[in-house]
Amino acid sequence: MHIIVETRGLVKVYRSDGVATPALGGLDVAVAAGEFVSVMGPSGCGKSTLLYLVGLLDTPTEGTVMLAGADTRGLSDRERTRLRREHIGLVFQRFNLLPTISAEENVALALRLRRRPVGAAAREMLAAVGLQDKRRRRPEELSVGEQQRVAIARALVTRPAVLLADEPTGNLDSESSDRVLDLVARFHREAGQTVLLITHNDQVAARAERIVRMRDGRIIAG
Ligand SMILES: Nc1ncnc2c1ncn2[C@@H]1O[C@H](COP(=O)(O)OP(=O)(O)O)[C@@H](O)[C@H]1O
Ligand SMILES: [Mg+2]
Repeated sequence: MHIIVETRGLVKVYRSDGVATPALGGLDVAVAAGEFVSVMGPSGCGKSTLLYLVGLLDTPTEGTVMLAGADTRGLSDRERTRLRREHIGLVFQRFNLLPTISAEENVALALRLRRRPVGAAAREMLAAVGLQDKRRRRPEELSVGEQQRVAIARALVTRPAVLLADEPTGNLDSESSDRVLDLVARFHREAGQTVLLITHNDQVAARAERIVRMRDGRIIAG
């Protein structure tokens, strides 16, 4: 089994205005390449913090994240950005699409940022999420479910080793939510996409092959 993401003794304490808030209390989790894992737990238990650390968007107070075999401890911001762009695709509850450009340009931008050729890749990825016909629309001209599918296309067009999704259906009605989850499950099944999906919702978590349960900054099962 090839481990693609591993956290070792991950501790995160947020400090602001002299107040220390512990968010993760020494968390160890490993995800194998090709696995679809959900991380499930109540609000405030540290799920988003875990995703930010695994996604190299923030640094731990103690412990480390191993990504694709590399220890990320002590890396510069620049090196972390490079690793993130190479290996990670991110999807959030809010889609964070650029409002002034088309769906296709939003997807293409992920490639341009990495100085990779765009070619037909952005259009093909939008077709894969069922939005070929709407590729020239700007985000506001799409439903929220469609916007999230664009965000998934943007996250996956770079062929990341790991897709990290934080409450990706949190803003969606149940039908759009199902469609987004079907899509993620299909990329996992057909392309072997590794997925780490974070949610506080039991039904959403149940879409994964394995459920890791968190409470108070620790893993309690899975
Ligand atoms: N930037 C921050 N500054 C201070 N405290 C934070 C920050 N982000 C999260 N927290 C705190 O860390 C804990 C875990 O939060 P979070 O990881 O967002 O949990 P979840 O995603 O499971 O709801 C909570 O107590 C939260 O209030
Ligand atoms: Mg959260």
